[in-house]
Amino acid sequence: MAEIDWGNLSFGYTKTKYNVRTYYRDGKWGALEVSSEETINIHIAATALHYGQEAFEGLKAFRGKDGKIRVFRWEENAKRMQKSAEAILMQEVPSDLFKKAMVKVINLNKEFIPPYGTGSSLYLRPLLIGSGPQVGVKPAEEYLFMIFVTPVGPYFKEGFNPVDVEIVRDYDRAAPNGTGHVKVGGNYAASLRAGVRAHDEGYAASLFLDSKTKTYIDEAGPANFFGIKDNKYITPDSSSILPSITNMSLRDLAADMGMTVERRHIAVDELESFEEVGACGTAAVISPIKRIHDRNTDKDYFYCKDGKAGPISTKLYKTLQGIQMGEIEDKFGWNTIID
Ligand SMILES: Cc1ncc(COP(=O)(O)O)c(C=O)c1O
Repeated sequence: MAEIDWGNLSFGYTKTKYNVRTYYRDGKWGALEVSSEETINIHIAATALHYGQEAFEGLKAFRGKDGKIRVFRWEENAKRMQKSAEAILMQEVPSDLFKKAMVKVINLNKEFIPPYGTGSSLYLRPLLIGSGPQVGVKPAEEYLFMIFVTPVGPYFKEGFNPVDVEIVRDYDRAAPNGTGHVKVGGNYAASLRAGVRAHDEGYAASLFLDSKTKTYIDEAGPANFFGIKDNKYITPDSSSILPSITNMSLRDLAADMGMTVERRHIAVDELESFEEVGACGTAAVISPIKRIHDRNTDKDYFYCKDGKAGPISTKLYKTLQGIQMGEIEDKFGWNTIID
């Protein structure tokens, strides 16, 4: 077993033993290679470096109560990576190759899967990049697909404790017909300034509005947004947000709990009326929000008045985590057990 303080991990990089890689060359994917290098050798004119031809994914493997290793909804990550590839003209990674690479990299790094009960998990980072050279603005002819893994703790240092976020209007993360709906590096480059400023000002994340009208909530830097009121789970419908697999799962859980699920525009004004609000994603599962600050109007919206997450967010969080850890029946068939 690796010597790691499992209970105190942050969401950061810890070196593991192996990663896996494969190249698309001459019209086909090559053999899966195992590497213990933390670096890649890349052509100086690779399209990933110049024209942002790159996409990534993020998913987790958990050590369950029964000792088994479970991966949560990997098929959805494989599909999303295919959509990302399609959006920026990269070679798609077939789901069976994605799975083969994932199973291999998990098995090779078993000693880095945090033990059950520590609150940590093994984060998998699949990466697809244009590795072939181009000088003109054109898609590459060669691609590299790889997965590395790293054990992680909670994304926000607060864990499941409520955080503050701030609405930004002076930066956009994604354009209405741009690439906000896929997981490509450029979106994250565009979100850095707002994100770092939010952190510097004491907020856990920035909350982006739709870039065309600045009227509706889009999403938080690294997570989707949801609000709860009148037994409804409400989450934005927008062409420029990443379809979060966590959000997709929470919608199913909310419906299963007897709630009405709505995907529609959420105007900033509506924030006033929510009983609970939160950010959701693989990294954080749910981050309950206790305050939303609007930097332009200086207005604040307050939630979690007793300082704790609301009852519905708590129930959703516990149910989702319980399924991931093998404590609650996986009735939707979301987990893949790796042996
Ligand atoms: C911009 C953005 N939105 C939302 C999410 C949450 O998506 P998921 O639940 O699939 O992790 C992520 C993380 O992948 C993200 O980067």
